[in-house]
Amino acid sequence: MRSVQLFVFLVVGVNLVLGFRSFARGRSKGGSLGEPILNESHALPEDQWFEQFLDHFNPTETRTWKQRYFVNSDFHKKGGPVFLMIGGEGAASPKWMVEGQWIDYARRYGALCFQLEHRFYGKSHPTADLSIKNLVYLTSEQALADLAYFIEGMNLLHQIPAGTKWITFGGSYPGSLAAWSRYKYPHLVHGAMSASGPLLAKIDFQQYYVVVEDALRTHSQACIDAVVAANRQVHIMLRHPVGQKGLAEKFKFCSPVDTQTKRNDIANLYESLASNFAGVVQYNKDNRRSSKTSNITIGTICDILVDEKRGTPVSRLAEMSNLLLEANGEKCFEFKYSKMINELCNVSWADEVAEGGRQWMYQTCTEFGFFQTSTARPQLFSETFPLEFFVQQCTDVFGPKYNMHLLEAAVERTNTIYGAFDLDVSNVVFVHGSIDPWHALGITKSSNPRAPAIYINGTAHCANMYPKSENDPPQLTEARERVGQLIGEWLKN
Ligand SMILES: *[C@@H]1O[C@H](CO)[C@@H](O)[C@H](O)[C@H]1NC(C)=O
Ligand SMILES: *[C@@H]1O[C@H](CO)[C@@H](O)[C@H](O)[C@H]1NC(C)=O
Ligand SMILES: *[C@@H]1O[C@H](CO)[C@@H](O)[C@H](O)[C@H]1NC(C)=O
Ligand SMILES: *[C@@H]1O[C@H](CO)[C@@H](O)[C@H](O)[C@H]1NC(C)=O
Repeated sequence: MRSVQLFVFLVVGVNLVLGFRSFARGRSKGGSLGEPILNESHALPEDQWFEQFLDHFNPTETRTWKQRYFVNSDFHKKGGPVFLMIGGEGAASPKWMVEGQWIDYARRYGALCFQLEHRFYGKSHPTADLSIKNLVYLTSEQALADLAYFIEGMNLLHQIPAGTKWITFGGSYPGSLAAWSRYKYPHLVHGAMSASGPLLAKIDFQQYYVVVEDALRTHSQACIDAVVAANRQVHIMLRHPVGQKGLAEKFKFCSPVDTQTKRNDIANLYESLASNFAGVVQYNKDNRRSSKTSNITIGTICDILVDEKRGTPVSRLAEMSNLLLEANGEKCFEFKYSKMINELCNVSWADEVAEGGRQWMYQTCTEFGFFQTSTARPQLFSETFPLEFFVQQCTDVFGPKYNMHLLEAAVERTNTIYGAFDLDVSNVVFVHGSIDPWHALGITKSSNPRAPAIYINGTAHCANMYPKSENDPPQLTEARERVGQLIGEWLKN
């Protein structure tokens, strides 16, 4: 069963797609899972390719393409289960094949491990480019059918005995897919660990910034007050040439604020500022691969914001913004709406946005919404980036058909085909963290004993999926243990 060719992992050239990159300025943010911290002595599995149908819902469509996957049989014991990590809105990382909580479960239960990259992300390119006529094949339903065909294919290829139990794992959007895979294909998927998965499609995801604000409050009310005071100063400075110049200098804007600056540029500017908070909160202390941003926590930014010795509130906000700018390796703060739209209009796989920006945007505009607007909390970011700003992006990137009417129908469709919070499944565990904004669209209370929820006080996005660390709070350790027990119970019956 050792079908993997392993190679020694080199520290250079690792993929940097996930994590803060998914916080691309101005766009609706996915919640993507980052990468686990890697023990450098591990070898990583090579890319493998699975031939997949382009369109699972048209029996007369025979075109196929090659989907990337990884396999690790190191922990597999005869008669053991199969674990499948579901890829999401970014490139799949082979690091997950050797690190992470699910690997501990694999050791414990002797599982054979696979990871399947999501169609249209990473190296899994079903079509020649990302034009709109090709993106029609990018849907969660196609992705779920990919999983079904993949399971059938691997059962055959690896001669996996009949009756072997497959358990799916996913965090963030793949967390939704994990739960839905059990729902749609129960004869193939025996159980699912769904971490931080949104189950309710919603156009205006206002609660996102409510949770962000609540998370900042765990530091202090003073932290929120400082942001409010800073924003008030930004509003005022934006109105006058002297203030505009001052802001451009403080925040290192790539272009000046002047008479050429449009309303959408300003919305984009505010949304980018807010994104900084969202990013820090969503990934707060989550044991991701140590990157330059992973040590910037709620504590780090709030300590800066409340420190009056550092200058006026707006100067402190700029200091925080510049800290993240530098950590992300960006030279200046880009707020030009047209520049962002131009990048998202590029249909080439070679382009940077081919790493997921355009594709995820397509899925939000046609399936999920999830637009993180500022309209719920006039306190923190007031009405600086309303729903219209995001709907406009759908129209500007994909065309006039991609408007509010389409979004309303799209979201209703998604909730109808999957059942939203009424999703009726068994052998699924929903895991969420209280400071992860995505919990607001997920199941956090156990009402169905066959599909319990674990709501962890104080943890961020997908925290239970990363490798454990000494700094984990006890409730996180407990959640990891509980999930392990549940998997054990599912495997027994
Ligand atoms: C990395 O893996 C090696 C070999 O399995 C082990 O000896 C070492 O303790 C690990 N290091 C860390 C930091 O976990
Ligand atoms: C984070 O770590 C980097 C080194 O990787 C260090 O230069 C930086 O000062 C740290 N930032 C904070 C806020 O602790
Ligand atoms: C799209 O991106 C690719 C790669 O960055 C670039 O070579 C190409 O010129 C871009 N196309 C357009 C139309 O901007
Ligand atoms: C969550 O943790 C915080 C601080 O650790 C505590 O103050 C709060 O009461 C806890 N909430 C619940 C519901 O346990």
